[in-house]
Amino acid sequence: MKKNVDPLKNIVSLCKRRGFIYPGSDIYGGFANTYSFGPYGVELKKNIKDLWWKTFVYQRRDIVGLDGPILMHPKIWEASGHVDSFNDALIDCKECKNRFRADQLIENQINKDVEGLKLEDITKIVKDEKIKCPKCQKENFTDARHFNLMFSTQMSKTDADDNISYLRPETAQAIFVDFKNIVDTMRVKIPFGIAQIGKAFRNEITPGNFIFRVIEFEQMEIEYFIEESSWQDTFDKWLTDMFNWCKLIGLDSKKLKEKEHLKEKLSHYSKRTVDITYEFPFGENELYGLAYRTDFDLKNHEKFSKTSLKYFDPINNKKYIPHVIEPTFGLDRTILALLCDVYDEEILENNEKRVVLRFNKKIAPVKVAIFPLMKKEELTKVARAIFEKLNPHWSVEYDETGAIGKRYRRQDELGTPYCITVDYDSLEDNTVTLRDRDSMKQERIKIDNLLDIIKNKLEN
Ligand code: GAP
Repeated sequence: MKKNVDPLKNIVSLCKRRGFIYPGSDIYGGFANTYSFGPYGVELKKNIKDLWWKTFVYQRRDIVGLDGPILMHPKIWEASGHVDSFNDALIDCKECKNRFRADQLIENQINKDVEGLKLEDITKIVKDEKIKCPKCQKENFTDARHFNLMFSTQMSKTDADDNISYLRPETAQAIFVDFKNIVDTMRVKIPFGIAQIGKAFRNEITPGNFIFRVIEFEQMEIEYFIEESSWQDTFDKWLTDMFNWCKLIGLDSKKLKEKEHLKEKLSHYSKRTVDITYEFPFGENELYGLAYRTDFDLKNHEKFSKTSLKYFDPINNKKYIPHVIEPTFGLDRTILALLCDVYDEEILENNEKRVVLRFNKKIAPVKVAIFPLMKKEELTKVARAIFEKLNPHWSVEYDETGAIGKRYRRQDELGTPYCITVDYDSLEDNTVTLRDRDSMKQERIKIDNLLDIIKNKLEN
């Protein structure tokens, strides 16, 4: 079995060919760094979201769910610090008019990390170090200036000047804003968490690498509210829980690492951040993040909203603003990491190439495919009956078109763990072949036992 050296190109092509991920606005020539999730992509997303919710909400007694709005009161983004601090330093090439993130240009060309430096210092480095435009190779840039990453939009209020609202750049703020509602209406006691899955939007200057950095993406976030003194233990525990999640979805642990953020590089709200990085084909990059947000957000929302966000602790009769540990999981990056991990090409004994996605069975978009060996009424009748029997339980496909080998190859590319074939022996002895995606081994199974056998295989 031979792993492909740089699978990203092949993954992008397979994703389009097989209905996982299409370029956004495709028939209009595309719309940079936006993507549609096709029929199989959407199943994969759903399976990951369901498993995440099951793991962090249903299977725990200390976390509740929320689905907050994307558009919220503009003051929220002042309170959260995003209006002032959610910036990248950008520069424009005066010659070819292309726009770049200054820190990335400098890092790529002279391997110097400028995060946290003042704009004047960044401008000076660009000039002194003769940084070149990667597009036209000239050295004629504007000064560096701040570019806020939030998308703004106009609300339809005609009588107000402040009718700007923002598309949320993180789901987290909706959780902080509803903290009081949840404390008042649910019987939660600290420590407890609020989980949310939803879209976030960022006007990234230099997006790219397929769905790694896009302008519209989904986050799965938890704000875990604690008493300040317990932050270190809670942080360590969450780091373990995050790695356990990676294992649960089948990510290769050898490709995962912990990366501690340097103090001077922490986000405006964080006192400690550890990224979980993944070795993508284009380099080691952030997959998930774990941050100790202190009481920064609740304190600021209390100040800006003039509403008390203190929590009354009945055990020790104390009133305080809770501190927060935030595990955050990017859904699109989860999908990209999984695709990179599970994509495999192998040359079969007959010299044919087999492309297979070795998804963990729990998240595979299709669990079982059913084929009649040929499109003959006596076979299709039995195959359709099996389809009807299995499809209330899982996402199941029925396919009667083309050569059987081609139908197997198609399901391999979708990562379907099991294929069932109805042949002429099936009509004699009520058995079918059950083929395993990874080993390609086939076993003969009684039709009556199919449901239990597959159930057992999928669950173990
Ligand atoms: N609430 C904290 C927060 O938003 P972040 O590190 O900026 O922290 C969290 O984002 C996660 O969201 C990242 O670890 C990543 O998985 C995902 N993410 C961030 N920006 C992204 C982008 N432009 N495209 C795709 N995913 C992104």
